[in-house]
Amino acid sequence: MELKDQINNERLPKHIAIIMDGNGRWAKEHGKQRILGHQRGVQSVREVCEACAELGVEYLTLYAFSTENWNRPLAEVTGLMTLFAQTIKKEMDTFFKNDIRLNAIGDLERLPESNYKMLKETIDATKDNKRMTLTLALSYSGRWDLMQASRRMAADAAAGIIKPEDITQDTIDNYLSTAGIPDPELLIRTSGEERISNFLLWQLAYSEFYFTPKYWPDFQKADLYEAILNYQRRERRFGKTSEQVTK
Ligand code: IPE
Ligand code: IPE
Ligand code: MG
Repeated sequence: MELKDQINNERLPKHIAIIMDGNGRWAKEHGKQRILGHQRGVQSVREVCEACAELGVEYLTLYAFSTENWNRPLAEVTGLMTLFAQTIKKEMDTFFKNDIRLNAIGDLERLPESNYKMLKETIDATKDNKRMTLTLALSYSGRWDLMQASRRMAADAAAGIIKPEDITQDTIDNYLSTAGIPDPELLIRTSGEERISNFLLWQLAYSEFYFTPKYWPDFQKADLYEAILNYQRRERRFGKTSEQVTK
């Protein structure tokens, strides 16, 4: 039986988050410039978006550029920004063909103005698409998200809009940039690194982690199916005992 057909649709993660890592090492192993690795990575993005939309995954969140990535050499940062702009423009067809709504989280105002504008336009153009929400984490970090949420919460408390004693975990959820999006059940990281690298710190509290040694440009639909199948073999206990969750 094909991998895809082994997936239990009843137990499909609603939200998959991916740390797309290993583009640079992929390029190095192929004797190419790092930017070529990033360019190849776009193919994997397309594959994974299509595969998720076909399966019925409702939310896909991709870590594309972290707050810390601004510290890379200027040429790489510029190359990545150009690539993001080209890709968003080029993938418009993919978004409409697959009924995908584009979303972005992060400190987007740090992006070059033309990128920011195009991103906003694409988000607006795809806002009525229903099948899947694709969130790009751009200039994003988990600590940045917690900081911006805290600032806005404090401002609203000072203005009397919310009361400090009424702040619950749901309030915090609603101030984070992922408001309205359920926490990811599954986090995938490619390239063999096994760390969060400041991704969704609050939201990943109970996610299942799946690490693969494959570099992102080599990650294909079948790898995504493997990750989902692996996830489906796990028992999620949320602090309870195995007996409690299986009965
Ligand atoms: C991930 O690949 C892409 C971004 C962080 C933008 P890397 O560029 O981190 O690739 P490696 O880790 O150097 O191989
Ligand atoms: C994490 O990858 C960020 C993205 C994939 C966008 P990095 O390659 O920047 O992470 P570290 O620095 O190795 O942890
Ligand atoms: Mg890396």
